[in-house]
Amino acid sequence: MASRTRKMFSKALGRSREVVERVRQRVSGPPSPYRPGDQVRVSFGASGGGDVEYGTSLLAAARTHDVDLDHFCGGNSSCGTCRVRIRSGAEHLSEMHMNEEIVLGVDAVRSGDRLACQARALGPVEAEIPEFFLVR
Ligand code: FES
Repeated sequence: MASRTRKMFSKALGRSREVVERVRQRVSGPPSPYRPGDQVRVSFGASGGGDVEYGTSLLAAARTHDVDLDHFCGGNSSCGTCRVRIRSGAEHLSEMHMNEEIVLGVDAVRSGDRLACQARALGPVEAEIPEFFLVR
């Protein structure tokens, strides 16, 4: 009896995992070909860029490749000076959390901006540093 219940539970669990995966793919598209440990390209237009490890924040990518990008709060998601506009690859960024949305504000979020200290590259990303934040 317990064995039969276990089999039924296992079968139902398998079906629900399939449903969850189908819904996930419908919402977020096909699974990303990039995996932890991969190198992904992060570029900042004319300011530079280069390859970094999957999961690296855009701020860390900028610092690794000597791209001047302000970060007055030290990457604590409170100053907004690391704001970048995403030109392509937004689907390859980590999810935006509520604090990032609050710091950016509604207009910047709608424009596709992200905080470089919070957004992690999970695939190739092309970002642009707003001119008023460029260090000269
Ligand atoms: S460094 Fe301050 S919000 Fe990103």
